[in-house]
Amino acid sequence: MKFGYFDDNTREYVITQPDTPMPWINYLGSEAYFGLISNTAGGYSFYKDARLRRLTRYRYNNSPLDMGGRYLYIRDNKSGKYWSPSWMPTRAKLDEYECRHGQGYTVITSKLNGIKSSTRYFVPLGESLEIWQVTLTNESGSDSDLSLFSAIEFCLWDANDDATNFQRNYSIGQMEIVDDVIYHKTEYRERRDHFAYFACSEKLAGYDTIREDFLGKYRGWNEPQVVESGKSSNTEAHGWQPIGSHNVSVSLKAGESKQITFILGYVENAKDDKFDPPGSQVINKKKAKAALGKYLQQANADKAFAELRDYWTMLLGKLQVTTPDEHTNRMVNIWNAYQCMVTFNMSRSASYFESGIGRGMGFRDSNQDLLGFVHMIPERAKERILDIAATQLKNGGAFHQYQPLTKRGNNDVGSGFNDDPAWLVLGVAAYIKESGDWSILDERVTYENEEGSEAPLYEHLQKSIQYTLDRLGPNQLPLIGRADWNDCLNLNCFSDTPGQSFQTTTNKEGKVAESVFIAGLFVLACSEMVDIAKHHGDKAEVEKVTKASADMEKIVWKAGWDGDWFRRAYDDFGHVLGSKENTEGRIFIEPQGICIMAGLGVENGNAVKALDSVNEHLATPHGIVLQQPAFSQYYLHLGEISSYPPGYKENAGIFCHTNPWIMIAEAIVGRGDKAFDYYKRINPSAREEIGELHRCEPYVYAQMIAGKDAATHGEAKNSWLTGTAAWNYVAITQSILGVQPMFDGLQVKPVVPSDWKSFEVTRSFRGVRYEISVVREGTGNSVALTVDGKSIEGTIIPLPDKNTKTVKVKAVIK
Ligand code: GLC
Ligand code: GLC
Repeated sequence: MKFGYFDDNTREYVITQPDTPMPWINYLGSEAYFGLISNTAGGYSFYKDARLRRLTRYRYNNSPLDMGGRYLYIRDNKSGKYWSPSWMPTRAKLDEYECRHGQGYTVITSKLNGIKSSTRYFVPLGESLEIWQVTLTNESGSDSDLSLFSAIEFCLWDANDDATNFQRNYSIGQMEIVDDVIYHKTEYRERRDHFAYFACSEKLAGYDTIREDFLGKYRGWNEPQVVESGKSSNTEAHGWQPIGSHNVSVSLKAGESKQITFILGYVENAKDDKFDPPGSQVINKKKAKAALGKYLQQANADKAFAELRDYWTMLLGKLQVTTPDEHTNRMVNIWNAYQCMVTFNMSRSASYFESGIGRGMGFRDSNQDLLGFVHMIPERAKERILDIAATQLKNGGAFHQYQPLTKRGNNDVGSGFNDDPAWLVLGVAAYIKESGDWSILDERVTYENEEGSEAPLYEHLQKSIQYTLDRLGPNQLPLIGRADWNDCLNLNCFSDTPGQSFQTTTNKEGKVAESVFIAGLFVLACSEMVDIAKHHGDKAEVEKVTKASADMEKIVWKAGWDGDWFRRAYDDFGHVLGSKENTEGRIFIEPQGICIMAGLGVENGNAVKALDSVNEHLATPHGIVLQQPAFSQYYLHLGEISSYPPGYKENAGIFCHTNPWIMIAEAIVGRGDKAFDYYKRINPSAREEIGELHRCEPYVYAQMIAGKDAATHGEAKNSWLTGTAAWNYVAITQSILGVQPMFDGLQVKPVVPSDWKSFEVTRSFRGVRYEISVVREGTGNSVALTVDGKSIEGTIIPLPDKNTKTVKVKAVIK
């Protein structure tokens, strides 16, 4: 069953009933001011950091699940009937309903009692505010007398304190209401230099800022007293729960329409310019007034919206494909690219599954998120790389996470996830391949954000490689530390007390447990490092890394190969994991993917063997599970992985992030049918028809789909913020469609399904448009390229001369 449809022409997903299996959300904002918005207008807003600068309040895990957001109420003053045009929170049955999620905006349209309402929510580029443009149209056939109420609840800035520290919070709330604008200034009197404002384009009939006055005692958002009576209380909040609500009278003749604009914004003032007049306790509103002066005018707001649309046309235009498969087309051309931007912005901080108060930016996560984002705005990828690298430890290790606001490493989680540093090499390589900007290697970057410790980024990469070499175990495989890519494979933790962290409560010295995954990742990182060092003219490093990589390969064949697949790890007792010797956890997906991506087994046939084992033991119609057999009980020596019930999360769930690694591996061994088959299994658009089972949004990837051991096999969870987005984008565009940036040019080397006769790709690469058309003549994978009419050797198109704007490429698959 479907709950909507894709409108590919407008690049929107259109939800046609409000009660989707779960809230289906979207994101507003793309640089500093962000919002989450659901199909029923739930969600919240924040500035830069979802924990430290939360503008509006949202309570997770509520019932109903999605309560709190950017709400409107329409009241028919003749009958006294009222409803929410976004369905929630009143849940009055609507005659019409539609929610259109687009890139950075959402439009919710509905009709009830003859009143049509359409609200467009978006954040203008470069601004720290959101606009709600409401259009009310009277289609009732007679004149109407309406009241329109807005309603948001302010968060007292630090979302963690806001949800816990009530003995303080109930006393600190402060407001100003001036010229019909509601200002929220809690803590501004002391150390904060920022406030929020909420304004309306119309003269108000009234307002509310005290939650209890607005809702009424013991009432919820579904039946506010003020809306029921039609009369605002015009009171100012002191402590307790500050909210913002405007009340606008709207009289519409039959057939008449009116547009009303609401703006919620954020202002930061200089410390010495906080108050106006200086010395008073009155906030300086100059910036807010300027923003309102501009955007409360409909024409300016419309223009800002058009600019946002154009911006996305430009970004998405950097890579467009036309293939025989519509799911591929719309995911690559629209949704997957969009999700890559959102994951790049949010890391794992704020979604409907990530509360925004826990995790900062992950070191390995951000390096991987880059992979799907870097072609859109390389400069921002560069900035991110430098921020990440600046937190690197002097020994080459990494803080596992850092806070986006402070850009400093997070001491609570600390370091010791031994795969982390290697991802930096992959992130930097991807940036250089895309941009051709080798100068990034010379950028001077601190260690641990310590002033004076600056060293060229190149040295950071060297240290990343050395970090693994300094930490080899009894088999000469890399020591795993707290965990490798799989955060839940905790071989040194041995945690037996509820509530302890599986990752940081480490009870073992960590000198024994080893990771085959890190070995594969290391070989992959080495191959990039060798190219980087060559270009850098560093022969010694080239030799060192080439040898280290070759040695590691040998070790993998000696200690990491199980006969039919790659092993996973060795535990603290030196026992193997991911082997026929095990009864549970005999085969894992991660080492198969990463080792083959590093080129292991491609020549000797073991790669094909490993992939056949994946197909036999791990593949399901809903995707490939992480391992088999699932762990049936908690194992002290394995950690969090065995804490999950079988089939969920890392315990044999379909952890989607890993699936594209297998797609890439299948493409490497030349099996386009298989690669694409796996691609389709987890492609959200291809799963749209099974919406009742899948439950998450059909336009974005989820982190996990329940595996075959689970009671709910096929059910997705943790949508939006996942490395799945970047990796699927890489797998489909670079490996399957085969258009891949390389250090020396753009490569065209497709490995596509055998029944594909042709496809096209347009891609911007280092300022040049490549118009690539591919036709299949034979059944193999060998490719003959003609570039601007001339046939070339090999699959990499040499960089054209400076003035070239467009390059036409014809590829024939033989
Ligand atoms: C989560 C983490 C990621 C990790 C993965 C597997 O998605 O954000 O860093 O690799 O889980 O445990
Ligand atoms: C938990 C999650 C896992 C995540 C890890 C890191 O262990 O289950 O998916 O990667 O936290 O924060």
